[in-house]
Amino acid sequence: MEIKVTTGDITKIETGAIIVDFFEGMEHPAGDTAILDEALGGAISQLVSQGEIKGKLSEITVIHSLGRLPAGRVVVVGLGKQAELTQDKIRGVVAETCRLLRQKNVETIATVNQGAGIAGITIEGAAQVITEGALLGVYSFRQHLTKKAEHGEIKQLTIINADKTNLPALEQGCHKGKVLAEATNLARDMANEPGNYMTPSHMAEVATRLAETYRLELQVLEREQMQELGMGAFLGVAQGSREPPKFIILRYHGGDDKATDVALIGKGITFDSGGISIKPSEGMGEMKGDMAGGAAVMAALSAIAQLKPKINVLALVAATENMPNGSALKPGDILTAMSGKTIEIISTDAEGRLTLADVLDYAKKQGAKQMVDVATLTGAMRVALGDICTGAFTNNQELVNKVIAAGAEAGERIWQMPMYEEYKEQNKSEVADIQNTGGRSAGSITAAQFLAEFAGDTPWVHLDIAGTSTTEKERNYLVKGATGVPVRTLVNLVLALAKQ
Ligand code: BES
Ligand code: MN
Ligand code: ZN
Repeated sequence: MEIKVTTGDITKIETGAIIVDFFEGMEHPAGDTAILDEALGGAISQLVSQGEIKGKLSEITVIHSLGRLPAGRVVVVGLGKQAELTQDKIRGVVAETCRLLRQKNVETIATVNQGAGIAGITIEGAAQVITEGALLGVYSFRQHLTKKAEHGEIKQLTIINADKTNLPALEQGCHKGKVLAEATNLARDMANEPGNYMTPSHMAEVATRLAETYRLELQVLEREQMQELGMGAFLGVAQGSREPPKFIILRYHGGDDKATDVALIGKGITFDSGGISIKPSEGMGEMKGDMAGGAAVMAALSAIAQLKPKINVLALVAATENMPNGSALKPGDILTAMSGKTIEIISTDAEGRLTLADVLDYAKKQGAKQMVDVATLTGAMRVALGDICTGAFTNNQELVNKVIAAGAEAGERIWQMPMYEEYKEQNKSEVADIQNTGGRSAGSITAAQFLAEFAGDTPWVHLDIAGTSTTEKERNYLVKGATGVPVRTLVNLVLALAKQ
């Protein structure tokens, strides 16, 4: 879908459908909605007085213009109460409207800059979230379907505004929205790809493509180099698979000096069978998405490279399968991590934290001033928070506050979890420095406490996206499958850090 902005008269635009808004509690159409109401001979006011149009959030009313306008349809969307409007509600409503119009085979859409000037939403901000909503809402993963989709495809969405002086702000918002949404859809594509396609080598190929397209610095470490570095924890996980592991290092350089201002770290298990501690077969296929964190940091870096903040960012993904072949890691084994710490393996299915232990240590040795890791780490996280919000864990309140704020701006909700010292007790081993599981209770927290051992004193936030990385059914601008969470949070965070 192409997104454009234009200035002009909404009664003159030729398009399949033009979207205008209506707020709950209003008695009459106002602004652009009133202009189109007049052109339609009062059809909108009539529907309002009959109670069909109430302005409730996500209410969508399609009115055919039947020749009274060059636009084929006028679509009145409810945005709820004016005072309660948020940018995220606009994203959701636009997404739902686009999906409905796609179902009706509408190919071109125009919309007013919905929400601008209301509840503190700027012209730029409205254009951004309209763009995001449209591009995220019509996403579908059809890579391996040989048949064409039953519905059509929306080719173009135009944001139309009567005031020419608004054009630069509209263009800017539109550009940012497009970069953010496309990066999110890239992360979705990667996580939706099955394990036989999205292998560690393939992740490295995607990284190569991103590096070439966006001029990022790329390094991919092979098993031998990782052995030299002593990445015993990560390589322990990788030893049970025939697919070679890849350690992907991407760098964005926007700052004046050479410092690593922030490291973004993503879990990169391209398929998690559980290893020797094998998972039950039911639903195991879902574990093709166990690299969603890695996909998110790679995609975020591609967006950062396009938005060009003045900051240096390091993105790291330790990519491997977790498989149970004859040379696989076994329960009871003891590994030595790159940091020198020894780890007793209780379950080979607690593999994510093993891989991240070495990546966190690597980031620290690269001089990262702060680190954010993103991982589908624990089933317990999904039990605790479902798919509504991501759990955050930290050793630095200031940094987590920034991450939560960046998430709020993106409409990606983040809930901070406790990190009390007492939880560390559960990770104690009798035969090694630490063990890789902490028992059934507080599983997400003990996993985070394990990572904290390797993050050390460096300000660090861990985001457990086991619940939010996928969704089972369509919801606002999310569609079934991978969500691309938290790509937009990470980008917002880096933009905010660059401004300080
Ligand atoms: N990748 C899984 C966590 C997961 C589960 C993500 C469900 C998304 C949906 C992780 O590697 C895992 O297997 N965790 C174990 C840890 C346990 C062995 C301590 C879990 O959650 O059961
Ligand atoms: Mn696992
Ligand atoms: Zn896993």
